[in-house]
Amino acid sequence: MRLGSADVVSWQTSGVDEHGGLVIRQHCDPAQVSAKLRLELIDCWIQVSNAGGAVGFPFPPVNSQIVSPVADELIGGLVPACSRLLAASAGSALAGWVHLQRDPNPLIAHWGVISRLQTLPSFRGKGIGGALMMYARQVAREEMGLEQLRLAVRGGTGLESFYTRLGWTVTGRWPGALRLAPGDDRDEILMILTPL
Ligand SMILES: CC(C)(COP(=O)(O)OP(=O)(O)OC[C@H]1O[C@@H](n2cnc3c(N)ncnc32)[C@H](O)[C@@H]1OP(=O)(O)O)[C@@H](O)C(=O)NCCC(=O)NCCS
Repeated sequence: MRLGSADVVSWQTSGVDEHGGLVIRQHCDPAQVSAKLRLELIDCWIQVSNAGGAVGFPFPPVNSQIVSPVADELIGGLVPACSRLLAASAGSALAGWVHLQRDPNPLIAHWGVISRLQTLPSFRGKGIGGALMMYARQVAREEMGLEQLRLAVRGGTGLESFYTRLGWTVTGRWPGALRLAPGDDRDEILMILTPL
């Protein structure tokens, strides 16, 4: 299947909703992000961060004042070659999202980075996180021409097993790189997916 900007992929996912399951849309341009989606994305980011998720705000609680400018920077930087937002909806509500990026520098333009993967706590365990990751892999390979994907996991979360089940491998770690609080240093675990 060939997917272009803002194309939609959908499939039945039992338990997501009773009418048709999950839809994932990709957004490659700021103009493709509606005001409603922007607000839902910010709300999701706040909820997930405040529930302890490792999505870029390591010192909760956070609120709209803190998250909105970061979300606007992400949305404002969307561009097909280098920065895509993949958003999963169940019914009319945002259920989760992920950011897929590459650096245009030709030295490193053959690989990309996955970040901010998150699903709302009320939508967890229904396959949405895995579906976002599989769709990101497809977009990375078929549309962005990438050969590798990378991500970093906060040590102590156990998330390596989630990614390992999706084909990723641990390639290294930065010991004690993340200081969540005095006396609570965590490794940053480096993971890779290749070939795509
Ligand atoms: C990680 C996350 C995106 C998974 O979303 P999801 O929609 O529940 O994902 P899926 O339904 O596809 O997969 C759920 C599976 O992952 C497993 N999983 C989720 N979090 C896990 C964790 N911290 N450690 C180990 N396994 C985990 C679940 O146990 C479940 O396993 P099961 O299928 O055997 O029941 C979601 O838990 C989340 O938003 N977490 C907070 C944000 C975060 O930390 N993101 C990671 C950034 S690196």
